[in-house]
Amino acid sequence: MKFKALTAIAALLVAPMAMAGGADDDTLVVNEEIEIITKTAAPAHLSDALDEVISGWHFRKDPTQAMQADDFDNPGMLFVEQGLESWETAEGSEGKSCADCHGAAEEMAGIKPTYPKWNDAAEEVRTLQMQVNDCRENRMGAEPWKYDSGKAINMEALLSSVSRGMPMNVAIDGPAEAMWEQGKDLYYTRTGQLELSCANCHEENYGNYIRADHLSQGQINGFPTYRLKNAKLNGVHSRFKGCVRDTRAETYKPGSEEFIALELYVSSRANGLSVEGPSVRN
Ligand code: HEC
Ligand code: HEC
Repeated sequence: MKFKALTAIAALLVAPMAMAGGADDDTLVVNEEIEIITKTAAPAHLSDALDEVISGWHFRKDPTQAMQADDFDNPGMLFVEQGLESWETAEGSEGKSCADCHGAAEEMAGIKPTYPKWNDAAEEVRTLQMQVNDCRENRMGAEPWKYDSGKAINMEALLSSVSRGMPMNVAIDGPAEAMWEQGKDLYYTRTGQLELSCANCHEENYGNYIRADHLSQGQINGFPTYRLKNAKLNGVHSRFKGCVRDTRAETYKPGSEEFIALELYVSSRANGLSVEGPSVRN
């Protein structure tokens, strides 16, 4: 663990010298059936910075953790139900539903862990929401959904829920590499009046308390996330936006190239941790 002489973070941290708490030793099995990998050896590209990658679940209190262990207690699952309704509803000029082409939603198991992913034909890195919108526009003749909006997030939660337990496995080499590097630069760049980078909080100070919050590694294997704070599902880009804003910096928009790059990079930091979404957090 590196400790930099950062006055901004020292002022924010509740007990800067004590590595208070850290991650707990609980284990997560959803519905007594799906084993979730919540701690594992850091992927090779991270081995200089971290030994272990840890899900944000470990930094939450027991009652919050328990909500994620059973689908009846997980409020995020209500939104998965809504996603399933969209999945089965025909829309657009072609009169087709997602189910008409893809079959049951469970057929999509294994897709979420690989996103964001390079798409050869479009020559771009696509997030899952971008891919869904591509199907809507070009295969269904329907309007794209607004980034991180209700319907887009509900669909992402559905696609995530069928992959729960599977380890994140985002490719970072080949044509995706340039964007991955861009995301990595953003992760380590200090922003805002506080001059803090993602790494200052989530790599150098996870386990510490910042105001009333127990700092996690800022992993995104649990997204979309149901937050008790706003009682809805939250997308990755919206979470990034909130964190950047907390450094009192100008932030990027959900769906922007910067946040797509950051999502690719941050996803790769979770390689090996299970898909958890929809997870439950503060
Ligand atoms: C008319 C048929 C059709 C419809 C309707 C359709 N898709 Fe697709 N979808 C495809 C095809 C074909 C591909 C593969 C395209 C590619 O690889 O570029 C695909 C790819 C995908 C992928 C990426 C799979 C992967 O392996 O990376 C996802 C996710 C997806 N669709 C979700 C949806 C959702 C959600 C809907 C409804 C909102 C939907 N699709 C509607 C035909 C369809
Ligand atoms: C000033 C410290 C600080 C900075 C800088 C910061 N965050 Fe956060 N972040 C937090 C706090 C506090 C939380 C809520 C507690 C937690 O889950 O760590 C949080 C939560 C998160 C989460 C949710 C984790 C989960 O399991 O639900 C993600 C993802 C995240 N941050 C990513 C980022 C990224 C990416 C950056 C850089 C753009 C960043 N954060 C910058 C303080 C920070």
